[in-house]
Amino acid sequence: MDSVQPLPAVLTLVEIQALAEADMAAVDALIRRRLASDVVLINQVGEYIIGAGGKRLRPMLLLLAARVHGSRAGAGFDAEIHQLAAVIEFIHTATLLHDDVVDESDLRRGRRTANAVWGNAASVLVGDFLYSRSFQLMVELERLPVMRILADTTNAIAEGEVLQLLHVRNADTDEAAYLRVIERKTAVLFAAATELGALLGDATARDCRTLRAFGLNLGYAFQIADDMLDYSSDAETLGKNLGDDLAEGKATLPLIHAIARSDARTSARLRAAVEQGDANALPEVLAAIRSAGSLDYSARRAAEYAATAERALDGLADNDYVRALRGLARYSVNRVN
Ligand code: IPE
Ligand code: IPE
Ligand code: MG
Ligand code: MG
Repeated sequence: MDSVQPLPAVLTLVEIQALAEADMAAVDALIRRRLASDVVLINQVGEYIIGAGGKRLRPMLLLLAARVHGSRAGAGFDAEIHQLAAVIEFIHTATLLHDDVVDESDLRRGRRTANAVWGNAASVLVGDFLYSRSFQLMVELERLPVMRILADTTNAIAEGEVLQLLHVRNADTDEAAYLRVIERKTAVLFAAATELGALLGDATARDCRTLRAFGLNLGYAFQIADDMLDYSSDAETLGKNLGDDLAEGKATLPLIHAIARSDARTSARLRAAVEQGDANALPEVLAAIRSAGSLDYSARRAAEYAATAERALDGLADNDYVRALRGLARYSVNRVN
């Protein structure tokens, strides 16, 4: 008997994009059509942030998860999954508008943030518009289980953002507390995307749980990678400013690890930087993170979550869509922006 397990087949990002191209084009058209309002400022701000692009990872996950089972192909099915993918991207975009106000960020997707251009009030209110527009689109599907998942998800995201606020400038934030925050603020939306895709694809209850578990673990991996990029990328590649988390007094995994692993003197300086939200301490913080191996540690943790996500897929019959989902789990931790 051959005891060597074959490696699972995985699609590259280019292959995934080709696989999802027609669906993503339809979703993009739908997003633009349903963004419209007769209030001019809503169109301006909405077009501005949505027109800047973004990776569109969450709607792509929903579409791929929906097609894993492929049992209900047809125009009605396509329209439903496109609409729900647009809902997920609207919710994500609303959270970004709000997040940039809370984080006082001034660069997103390579452009000045909406709050930097139009101010905090406009950003918060247009974020609310996108949230409520997403619920209008969702209700059109007339599916109670979909509404329940999205109601629970948006509520959890709000809890996550408030929980994070409670940890701001708290140098005692540990890894467990950090993981509780990122589950709610980030991972649950990825989980909803893949679970909703499975649900619309008429997957069994078991496969819906499998795809939810995949999305949730990918979401953790994705946020840990994002928190590493905040210390390791450059603004041009990332499309966001580096050091935003430190400036906000947010203790993310690289910093949490460095505080725990540095000598007493360095640790005290890192704690003070968190407590003061001291952006000027960035070079010193970077040096400490480097010498404590905190980016390597964070990369390992992210890779573990991505591997857990992939393992969840082992229970599904292999096909191109499953291979694409595996590819996105890997991309989430290897990405540069
Ligand atoms: C940014 O999400 C917010 C996080 C959860 C880290 P993305 O990195 O998916 O943002 P866009 O949509 O590609 O700009
Ligand atoms: C993600 O956290 C926040 C949301 C879930 C909207 P971050 O604050 O790290 O996201 P970026 O880095 O601003 O995109
Ligand atoms: Mg932010
Ligand atoms: Mg970030």
